[in-house]
Amino acid sequence: MAKAVKSRRKEPAQKASATSKKKPAARKPFEGAYPPPAEFSKLARVKSMREYEKLYAESVKNPEKFWAGIAKELHWFKPWKKVLEWKEPFAQWFVGGQTNISYNCLDRHLNTWRRNKAAIVWEGEPGDSRTLTYDQLHREVCKFANALKSLGIGKGDRVAVYMGMVPELAVAILACARIGAVHSVIFGGFSTNAIVDRVHDCQAKAIVTCDGAWRRGKVVPLKDTVDEAMPKCPTVEHVIVYKRCGNEIKMHSDHDHWWHELCAGAADECPATPLDSEHSLFILYTSGSTGKPKGIHHTTGGYMLGTYLTTKLVFDVRDTDVYWCTADIGWVTGHSYIVYGPLCNGATSLMYEGAPNHPDPDRFWSIIQKYRVNVFYTAPTAIRAFIKWGEQWPRRHDLSSLRLLGTVGEPINPEAWRWYHSVIGGKRCPIVDTWWQTETGSIMMSPLPGATPTKPGSCTRPLPGIQPDIVTKEGQSKPANEQGLLVVRKPWPSMLRGIWGDPKRFKDVYWSTVKGCYFTGDGAVRDEDGYYWIIGRVDDVIIVAGHNLGTAEVESALVSHASVAEAAVIGIPDELTGHAIVAFVTLKDGAQPGADLKQKLMEHVAHEIGPIAKPKQIRLTGSLPKTRSGKIMRRLLRDIAAGKAQVGDTTTLEDYSVLAKLRETDES
Ligand code: PRX
Repeated sequence: MAKAVKSRRKEPAQKASATSKKKPAARKPFEGAYPPPAEFSKLARVKSMREYEKLYAESVKNPEKFWAGIAKELHWFKPWKKVLEWKEPFAQWFVGGQTNISYNCLDRHLNTWRRNKAAIVWEGEPGDSRTLTYDQLHREVCKFANALKSLGIGKGDRVAVYMGMVPELAVAILACARIGAVHSVIFGGFSTNAIVDRVHDCQAKAIVTCDGAWRRGKVVPLKDTVDEAMPKCPTVEHVIVYKRCGNEIKMHSDHDHWWHELCAGAADECPATPLDSEHSLFILYTSGSTGKPKGIHHTTGGYMLGTYLTTKLVFDVRDTDVYWCTADIGWVTGHSYIVYGPLCNGATSLMYEGAPNHPDPDRFWSIIQKYRVNVFYTAPTAIRAFIKWGEQWPRRHDLSSLRLLGTVGEPINPEAWRWYHSVIGGKRCPIVDTWWQTETGSIMMSPLPGATPTKPGSCTRPLPGIQPDIVTKEGQSKPANEQGLLVVRKPWPSMLRGIWGDPKRFKDVYWSTVKGCYFTGDGAVRDEDGYYWIIGRVDDVIIVAGHNLGTAEVESALVSHASVAEAAVIGIPDELTGHAIVAFVTLKDGAQPGADLKQKLMEHVAHEIGPIAKPKQIRLTGSLPKTRSGKIMRRLLRDIAAGKAQVGDTTTLEDYSVLAKLRETDES
């Protein structure tokens, strides 16, 4: 297994003690950490480290009691008989219980004052704006749920959702959840083949899409892409099209339906179906280290609990807050922290359609000022872009409404953390660096903003009920400050239930590296305060701008080009996107090497997978470094791409002359 790990960033103490000159004082716990602001702690749900420690200790002493207590805060049509049924690696939570997450997100609030509270506040990229109260959102969801039913879509059917960031995307998934249909959202930036693969894998019966989506002032023609995919999607009986941009599209009478026409005739009442706690809620595809994306499978009750509790504890949302998570609902962050977590908490969730730099690089800051946003959750890659664009952009706006900032997706560089803290947070907002994964369903490690002193670059401590560890391959816990594999030792409610249709791969990928533990694929270090520092992936997954991309996926896209014989893809550090893709490519005989071909190959990958997967560099080479058994030695390619004169251990390399040739490959 190739290791792509960086050394842990050493954090200097925030302020050197003036008294520490002569005799070095013993290290104090949390030295150099940023304590939570007293004003924040006063009102927070968890107010001190002591409270956190107590809550955590109780939660791990008797996890089932802890989780059952949280579950009781939500609505169940039928109580559960057993909290957890665990037959490694298969978990069932709240066995025998029946609930519905759409009910908990909507109906539960309708008999309270929240009925007329804003549930979703939406800003379109062109500057248009909509607000849906809980009552209005409920009605829209009911209408669409009835529309789905009218097409014969029901419990257990899979529905692919390929839309831009419009409120109807949230409506679509809540409507599926309401009737027990299983949604699978496909990121709107993906191309035809990505749709075909996913729709085929989950055997979707319908696709919900838009005519187009606004992105940087242009229309992304989503429906055209679906049209291209359709001939290869034999399971799809219906395509429902929401009209967003008014761009010209073709409607095929045999399977296409306009959203507005279906909903015009639909009743605005649709009782939520009581569903077993373990009823499938959604499938979301994520990259793996082999070519085929993994359909991560989440179920109803446990996922609901995880997103509900973490939104409440980590974002400490209050009823008066405007909460904004900038992710796309095409990724798990958008599922959990734009839709399900905030709505289960009765929060006001802001949703923005477009790019952060359209029409200018201050779009996010203007949105914060316009809606008086209080809680802001974004990704390190976005923060690095903001830093690059310059402080003048946020300085133009009143950001004083902000009280809490969050990050997710990859390790945040301490420099970027400090910039975020001072320029955006005005030094008064705590930052929650939240570590989790598509597979974990909800946040696993994060500061609690009123309790945890933060250290830039660390996601700090596990949340109540979560039991991570850093271990050797044999499962031995590593001592403080030693790097190891990040695992989770005990099941948790929002954990993935499997890889759709592939229990063997589920076991292989997550449960066979370290016996008895869920293996995250990440390397990490725990410091002397018990704080976790995520180092990065230890498998062949590259995180580009916060998006997981499997090396094998990009490689097979390259090899599908007529000129390519073989390809090996690696990630190199990139100032803006965290990592960028470099592809080493060997050509078939007769192919013409040159800048033109490199450009074509880049475009080809963008076309096959989507623009996020486009390599930054293509390096054409005569051969690739391989072991005697034929395995490509990616770590040598990493050393070469980093320009290292000395590469790592080459004892298993079959042909040494390859290295010299590879060094000659052209970066341009
Ligand atoms: O490597 C970790 C990194 O993102 C991976 C999960 O990616 P994905 O499933 O796409 O989910 C992203 C949004 C939850 C992890 O295995 N990662 C995520 N959050 C952090 C992080 N690395 C360091 N710090 C984080 N806060």
